[in-house]
Amino acid sequence: MEVNVSTESIESVLKSEDKFRKNHEILFYRRQRDKAVSQYFTSYETFVLTDGGASLELCERDSQDRLSLQIRATQNGTIRVSIDELQLVKPRYQVSDVLVGELRYEPLRVEWKKEDCVCLTWGLGQYQLLAFFSPFKLEISCAGEEIVTLNPGNKLCFETLQDPASRSSSNSSEGDENCCGLWKETFRQFEDIKANGPSSVGLDLSLHGFNHTYGVPEHADTLLLKDTSVSEAYRLYNLDVFGYEINSRLGLYGSVPLLLAHKPERTAGVFWLNSSETLVDVKYNTEQNEDEDEPPGKKSRISPRTDVRWISESGTIDCFILLGPTPAQVFSQYAQLTGKCRCRLYNGCARNRPLLSYQALPPLFSLGNHQCRWNYEDEADVKAVDAGFDLHGIPYDVIWLDIEHTDGKRYFTWDSKRFPNPAELQHHLMKKKRKLVVISDPHIKMDPDWSIYCEAKKGGHFVKNREGFDFEGTCWPGESCYLDFSSSKTRLWYARQFSLSKYEGSTESLFVWNDMNEPSVFNGPEQTMPKDALHHGGWEHRELHNLYGFYQHMATFEGLLTRSGGTERPFILTRSFFAGSQRLGAIWTGDNVATWEYLKISIPMLLSLSLTGIQFCGADVGGFVQDPDPELLVRWYQAGALQPFFRAHSAKMTKRREPWLFGEEVTSAIRSAVQDRYCLLPYWYTLFHQAHTAALPPIRPLWVEFPKDTSTFAVENQYMIGGALLVCPVTDPGVTEVKVLLPGSNELWYDTNTSEVHKGARSLDVPVTLTTVLVFQRGGTVVPRRTACGSCTADLQHYTITLTVALDIKGKADGFLYLDDGHSFNYRDQMQFCLRRFSMQAGRLVNSCANDKGLFVSDDKVETVVILGLKSVKRKPKLKSGAKRTSVMFEFDKKRGVLTLSGLELEICKDWEIII
Ligand code: NOJ
Repeated sequence: MEVNVSTESIESVLKSEDKFRKNHEILFYRRQRDKAVSQYFTSYETFVLTDGGASLELCERDSQDRLSLQIRATQNGTIRVSIDELQLVKPRYQVSDVLVGELRYEPLRVEWKKEDCVCLTWGLGQYQLLAFFSPFKLEISCAGEEIVTLNPGNKLCFETLQDPASRSSSNSSEGDENCCGLWKETFRQFEDIKANGPSSVGLDLSLHGFNHTYGVPEHADTLLLKDTSVSEAYRLYNLDVFGYEINSRLGLYGSVPLLLAHKPERTAGVFWLNSSETLVDVKYNTEQNEDEDEPPGKKSRISPRTDVRWISESGTIDCFILLGPTPAQVFSQYAQLTGKCRCRLYNGCARNRPLLSYQALPPLFSLGNHQCRWNYEDEADVKAVDAGFDLHGIPYDVIWLDIEHTDGKRYFTWDSKRFPNPAELQHHLMKKKRKLVVISDPHIKMDPDWSIYCEAKKGGHFVKNREGFDFEGTCWPGESCYLDFSSSKTRLWYARQFSLSKYEGSTESLFVWNDMNEPSVFNGPEQTMPKDALHHGGWEHRELHNLYGFYQHMATFEGLLTRSGGTERPFILTRSFFAGSQRLGAIWTGDNVATWEYLKISIPMLLSLSLTGIQFCGADVGGFVQDPDPELLVRWYQAGALQPFFRAHSAKMTKRREPWLFGEEVTSAIRSAVQDRYCLLPYWYTLFHQAHTAALPPIRPLWVEFPKDTSTFAVENQYMIGGALLVCPVTDPGVTEVKVLLPGSNELWYDTNTSEVHKGARSLDVPVTLTTVLVFQRGGTVVPRRTACGSCTADLQHYTITLTVALDIKGKADGFLYLDDGHSFNYRDQMQFCLRRFSMQAGRLVNSCANDKGLFVSDDKVETVVILGLKSVKRKPKLKSGAKRTSVMFEFDKKRGVLTLSGLELEICKDWEIII
């Protein structure tokens, strides 16, 4: 039966009220919250030290449930605490494919032992872990300073699996079971049968001295996590939430169960590796604590502390404490768990080189401007929009096709009327060095005449319902089945669909967009898949719900990689994601709305993602639903151009909004924002290289760069692009002045619009017009830009480079530039990259090689060097290259303190020095 969902009904399908559960409707969460504290204890008799860590047995005093606990520590400052049942009725789900690379554990040592506690240490002994026996708790400290306590409030709760046969003999009545959701739960008209009965796990932690926490995306909420004792907990459950509400803890399309805590002296992280539905409660405690060791009457001290409680519906407890102490170390500790990949995907590659990649290094084109719409009507429409960019001088790289390009929402096909010559269309774009992205959703139309459906059915590639038949749900094509990407066999089958020979009408310039992969099931509970659906290996969907999109992304990645024989970097955008998705491509924040509030919230949303490893992220520019007014559109382009993934997108029911449809003032403001983005791409690309190799997020909250400056801890309207640029997008209408916080008492900040310099540790009121984009360069940095941008990223190589050197108070500056071919893995397999360092000190700007392994020879040239913050120029600037010293053209603007050296023609890959 064909149940094509009409456009008119889309909004009503998607926007019905009360579709999503509130906390009180989530029964496993309620069970754990309502439970009196547990009484786990352990004893030294059960303590075993092994090569890779230590283990203990835990026992619950009342229920006599027994658990096994493992403690492991890595070399780089991460402690892993895993808890599972001691005697299993059946195995519990453990997340695979997220942790990659080989975790190396340190041997633990018993430092001392007392009657009620054992103290473990490792490595150089800077950290200590105390395991208290009764009640059980773990305390991690560094040089006597407590950092984290696990189970401080005795809220460890582990519902051990019961043999269903013994269920009837249990005391609880059917009524009790239903209201507590032990074996069955009903939400609206949906019944969830729990074959394994109650299986939730939970643990509390105290983070000592911390009262700022971040992370656990994806929520449309503030950067700083809220205290949830008076509001809903942060829910991690991947859902398709059309036009999501703002300031809400409802889980959106993806989940990363990583929470960061920060205080001036330390950043720490808690990574809770569990892919079932999870809730996170945060409670800040700033009350005065009587210090028990102080004599009575002595002043009590303020001891902030944040209590965090994690509760998951099933699986095991696998909790990683990342000890930092710096933000960069936490990023790296996390990335070494989820991002460092000696990946079998690369077996086909020339030298099977281990891929030390965290964030995937995007192909350069994907950092350009993307133009999307649901839908570009047909080939003529696509060509006209493409030509429009050239006509109006706005650079762009990629045009996107949404679901209507297919034959009846059968992905991998083309609507023969609208897109009769897709390959020709791609060649047309290719001639201009542009790409096409098409959508590929995880649902497969149930059409017995369609080969892909038939093959998938025959191959057993669909998720099953609880009765073991192919699960059927409705989505865009009507009745659909859903691919079971959790199976490697299915992923391989799916990946093959992207081969050029199988995917008719595709070329190597076609890239992919995975949407609706939470997965979205229009007629399912909370518009997703029932939790009792069954995956490969007999696992219930509830166990791995949050991994579904991650696995589709992975399969698509394999597909594009295999298509090129492992030589080209794939580009895939996904809506749903999990920890580790950064290895596979980009994500965007789904169906936002064309209002100022959504523009504003896009910043903390993207910063939260960036902090938790998902660094190639963006929000629909212009707002997906509704029509932005021209001012909002301009401001959104300006903001989007300063975000990692930059794509304009609009829903089917909205008016067309290509940037030239609103008059010259708007077109010109958008053109200028996009051109600036393109000129800045050498810097962005270098930042992505740092994300790829060192896990540093290209966009960062201010506190990451100013970890001791408490005034930055809650800032979410401005942020840093790398270490050099502070940006403050305008996110309010009719604004003529913006207040900008310039942090750091020893810092200098240069307004990139005026070159005016400002001292740090102050707020500045900056006048703005519609075309103003507020970007400040931090003193002490060097930023590379292209001198012009052309029509797409491929054109950038025709233009020279300008270095902007912003001096700090000591007259120093430093910066990097990374270059490679922009699209292949040759940077990895053949060392075809080049990393240069520009250092300014004592009047000398030195260009030197920053990684002598790099063999890439670029013919890029530095044409201009602009030095900001010079008080005077005492002699004629000279260039030293080899033994030669030559004069250079210069101009000094004394009033603004700007020295401009031009006409340089300096080869980027050669060492040289400029002496001023
Ligand atoms: C939902 C996605 O979020 C949106 O971006 C897309 O346009 C529609 N699905 C249609 O495919």
